[in-house]
Amino acid sequence: MRVLSGIQPTGRFHWGNYFGAIRQYIALQNEDEAYYFIANLHALTTVRDRTVLRQNSLDAAMDLLALGLDPARATLFMQSDVPEVSELCWILMTITSQGRLERCHAYKEKKSKGLPADMGLFTYPVLMAADILAYDSNVVPVGEDQVQHIEVCRDLAKAFNYQYGEVFVVPEARVMPDAARVPGTDGEKMSKSYNNTIEVFEEVKAMRKKVMRIETDSRPMEQPKDPEGDHLVQLYSLFVDAPKRQALAELYRAGGFGYGQVKKMLADEAEAYFAPARERRAELEAHPQRVLEILGDGATRARRKAREVLDRAQHACGLAYADAANLTPPR
Ligand code: TRP
Repeated sequence: MRVLSGIQPTGRFHWGNYFGAIRQYIALQNEDEAYYFIANLHALTTVRDRTVLRQNSLDAAMDLLALGLDPARATLFMQSDVPEVSELCWILMTITSQGRLERCHAYKEKKSKGLPADMGLFTYPVLMAADILAYDSNVVPVGEDQVQHIEVCRDLAKAFNYQYGEVFVVPEARVMPDAARVPGTDGEKMSKSYNNTIEVFEEVKAMRKKVMRIETDSRPMEQPKDPEGDHLVQLYSLFVDAPKRQALAELYRAGGFGYGQVKKMLADEAEAYFAPARERRAELEAHPQRVLEILGDGATRARRKAREVLDRAQHACGLAYADAANLTPPR
């Protein structure tokens, strides 16, 4: 099994990103082969400040490493360090119908809001397909919102194979079954666009402040409360084991406590939970050279694989005129 996923460096990761996706992606590094990259080419469609893009990209890499991505098991690299992908993207573009992309939601939504859409946004799914196909990936862990893009990738792989012969592995999306619903500080889904996030590597003091300000209802302390569907309970549950979860549920049912008390418990657990990662993060920040080396190694490994696949694609469609004898078959 070859797992691949890309993560856009559009800002610091929050609890929703971590419990909804990153945690599960990292767990997959124990599979046969795993590739993870920072999708800085995709981010170029929204981040237009070089300092911000560069910093976000490095931050994303450091965050992933601090959160447990192990460069000895998984290949971690920067998308732009593998130019083979952009070449492959062009080849795929020539078999992509305009209508197929017009139906993709990211583009459609922007357009329907009357926002300017550039070709980067329009062809976003094709670059994503190139990302995936370049490494013969067969499993792509993604969020629900990316499933449509994986469908485009599958269609393109099949269309190319039909036209030119077996070149690409047709991948499958894997939406994580245990992706947690993570509420934000207002009880809605945690999302940057709702401005209700708590970041994973937020300073402890700031994190605690945000937790203490989480919106709650104003029922009196004495009144028993239903833990089901309560967002403080949901948040607390992310960080603790079953007995602690149960203990909190009982506290709710019994009543006679204040939300402030629960928030303090939540802040304590969150702080303890991310403490080891926070330490690793500080360590990496103090040694940026090490991070660059990891990314460099990752890019070398990724390019080796991508070159192999690009050779195959180029031969298949007549772009290569050298001997085809040493092509590696898709696997
Ligand atoms: N579009 C993805 C997102 O925003 C990021 C991404 C880029 C990606 N290329 C990919 C994800 C390839 C999976 C596979 O989440």
